Order: sequence, then structure tokens, then C-alpha cells
Amino acid sequence: MKNILLGITGGISAYKSANIVSQLKKKGYSVKVIMTKNATKIITPLTFETLSRNKVYVDMWDESKGYEVEHISLAEWADLVLVAPTTYNVIGKIANGIADDMLTTVISATKVPVFFALAMNENMYNNPILSDNVDKLKGYGYRFIEADEGFLACNTNGKGRLKKEEEIIEIIEEYFIKKDYPQVLQGKTVVITAGPTEEPLDPVRFITNLSSGKMGYSLAEACAKLGAQVTLISGPTKLEPPMGLKKFISVRTALQMEKETLKYYENIDIAIACAAVGDYRPKIYYKEKIKKSDSDFSVELIRNPDILYQMGLLKKNQFLMGFAAETENILENATLKLNKKNLDVIVANDASNMGNGNNTVTLVEKNGKITPLKREKKSELAYTILLKLFSKVTMVSLMGILILTGCSSIISNSTGKEKYSDLEKKYSVILKKPRLKSKEIDSLKNKYIKLNSRLERNEENKKLKKEILKKVVILEDLSS
Ligand code: C5P
Repeated sequence: MKNILLGITGGISAYKSANIVSQLKKKGYSVKVIMTKNATKIITPLTFETLSRNKVYVDMWDESKGYEVEHISLAEWADLVLVAPTTYNVIGKIANGIADDMLTTVISATKVPVFFALAMNENMYNNPILSDNVDKLKGYGYRFIEADEGFLACNTNGKGRLKKEEEIIEIIEEYFIKKDYPQVLQGKTVVITAGPTEEPLDPVRFITNLSSGKMGYSLAEACAKLGAQVTLISGPTKLEPPMGLKKFISVRTALQMEKETLKYYENIDIAIACAAVGDYRPKIYYKEKIKKSDSDFSVELIRNPDILYQMGLLKKNQFLMGFAAETENILENATLKLNKKNLDVIVANDASNMGNGNNTVTLVEKNGKITPLKREKKSELAYTILLKLFSKVTMVSLMGILILTGCSSIISNSTGKEKYSDLEKKYSVILKKPRLKSKEIDSLKNKYIKLNSRLERNEENKKLKKEILKKVVILEDLSS
């Protein structure tokens, strides 16, 4: 898990930082705290020592440790520095290169991202000196968490309240997610159906199936982490909705799931039908509990709508993914469904995996490509499936970046021997390949590393270099 260095400065909202530490610890982060002297007047270091289970740093000249070692090692230990609350004074000091206590010294020595959550009196917040300092620091790559409007400690309403602890933590977590996961679904809207449906017969009885919802929930979480805006429409499950969703809609029956799904379908990029929708429902719903008698009792079942089939009929540009849980002739049946429901891909699996934590699946694509995937935990399989299907888009955009931004000359110059057209041919061949061998990835990477050193020399292209390097990492996801 990640290491978070929390800086606490002398704003009255420093008491809220205790909750930030406690919540970060619950989520599994390691937390170390540095307080300014002023902050210790508002809340004691002991509170943070107890909550973080680590020593709290205040004084640069703490005799028990060599200070030089301490401030550098803290700066290196952290994956991220969060300062909450951040006062006007501390921003002013850092913006002007002053490092006169432990916190400002560590911030000046760290190379990891620093987030400042601002909190102060409204007039200080609106002081142009603050906005000049903030702009200056933003220019150096420091990040800011704006204050909220509301009731302030100085007995007025205005802008200056520390953002809610949960929201600060959400911003930090979003940063880690974006950093750790290739954003191959950036800007895409996705609707996912998950879980079983329940088809009621009377107030206490219903027909359902063994679906746990794990696969659909894992896909929803993975899509969100890969950058998509996700709406998860779920039948009854025992699972907590995953983090980072745009919307979570809870339904019970197939008819409710149909209504919700079709509401969103028209304007989305990707639909993933992972729900085990009940194919039939009782024709009659008894409003009162059915009484038993001595004779037999029959229930007439009628067809539920096939939601995915309808999405296939209505399909314009949406990418449509279905699931086929089969007990026999898995691939043949999956292919039949792929065609019948007008899908782009179907994930075929053995119905015996329903409710399990693991799954073995085969991807069957519209173009006939069949990709068996190794057995994995559903939570990991979700990433494998999505990266197999959507990393290609990034490869194409990588080519796009190189061609559109006039990198051709840089590429041809970068190797000295190979011409751009030759490289383009090579890349196109690779683009068409379903899987890359690790040697091919290495060679692509080497090309980019060379390209990189040329881009380094050109100021204008430094930004472009960053873009390219981001994509180079993604190449690894295509490896077999
Ligand atoms: O036809 P079958 O139920 O096996 O197809 C499975 C796929 O169709 C799954 O993706 C499932 O979510 C979807 N489906 C649906 N509505 C139904 C039945 C299945 O969306 N009524």
C-alpha cells in the first residue's frame, strides 16, 4: 500500500486532520505526520501518533535523530505529500523558497506530488498575494484542493472551509488510480448490468439464480479505474458498490433492469451485459402469501425480455459485450449468441463458475478471433479482459500521436538507419497482431527510448515525450 506524508499547519481545521489520518489508515495506507509548531497549539502530536501509529515530526532539531537524515528520508519515504489544512503562511513560504521548519524543508526536498488542501479566513483566501503564490506553485507542478464555501471559524459565511475529509481522500485516491492504471477508457461512458434478478411469485417467494455479481462488479471497478464513467445496474447481491462509479442503480426484476438499461443505452460508448437475467417470471404475482393446500400447485412462467438482444437491435456505435454462461458446447453456443444478439464480443465461460471467486473465460470476437484467458480471480480477470479488448485503441492512438504531431522526422532521425516509412510498416504489422511477443515489445520500447532522447533536446516536444512514454508502458499490457 502507499505511503502518505500528511503535513498539518496551524489552521483551526487541523482537528479534522485526525479524521483524515484515521480514514487513510482504515483504507490501508501508511501515514506519517509532520506538524508545524502552530498546528501543535490546536491539536496535540499525541493524537496523530496514536492514530498513525508513527512518530510525529515537528522539530527539525529533534536531538534523538540526525535531522539531515530524517528530512531526506521522509521526503523519499512518501509516495505523496498531502498538506491539510494548508494556511496562507505556508503557501507564502513555499512559493518563496523558504524552508525553515520540518514541513517546509521536507516539501522542498521531495520529488513526489504534493497536494495542498487550502483552509483559511475568507479575506485571506481572496487576497491576490495568495492567488499569485498558488499560480506560481501550480506552475511548478504542485496541486491544490480548493476550499469550500460555508461557515468559517471567524463567525462568517464564505470561502475558506477545508474540503470535507472524504472528498480530500477521494482526490488522493483518484490520483493513485490514474497513476497506477493505464487510462485506456478515458472519457468513455460504460453501462454494466450485474448480478441475478429476482422474479417474485408472492411477497415472500421468488425465482432467482446463483449469480453473485462478482464478475460484473469487478468489471465496473476496473472500467472506472481505467478511466471510464461507469453506471452499474445491479440485481440483488451481497456486494458493496465499487468505488469510483458515476452511478449505481439497484434493481430487483428483469423488467426493472430492462427499463434502467435502455434509459442509458443510447448515449453510451460501451455496454457490458454481465447480469444473469431471469429468462422467465411468474405470470401471476400473488399480492398475499400463497397458502398451502393438500393438492399440487403449478406456476405458469412467461418470457422476460432479453435486454442484450434489444441492445443489439438498437445498436449504433456502442461496443457491446455479452456473457455466455454455458454448461455444454461452450464455444459453439457463445458464438451463436454473439451473432444472434449482434455483439462485438462475448465472454464464454462455464456456468459452474457462477458464484465462485475465480473464472476461466474465452473471448469470442465478432471478427472470429478467439482468445482463451488463463484462470484468474474475477477481480483480476476483469482487467485482463478490458486490456485485451481496449489497449489496442491506445496502440492506434500512439501511432496517431507519432504521425499527426510530425514525429516522422524525429523517428527517422532517431535511429539514423531506419526510415520512417520502414518503421511505420513495422508498427502497422504489430498493430494488426492480436498479441505482442515480449521481444517485439522490447524492440518497440527501445525505439521509443531512442526517440525520447531526441525529444529531450527539443523544448517544444517535451510535452509530447511525456504522452508517448505514457503509452509505452501500456504496450506491456498487450503482452501474451
Ligand atoms: O441468452 P443468455 O441468457 O445465455 O445470454 C447471456 C447474455 O445475455 C448475458 O450477457 C446476459 O447478461 C444477457 N441477457 C440479457 N437479458 C436476458 C437474458 C440474458 O441481457 N433476459
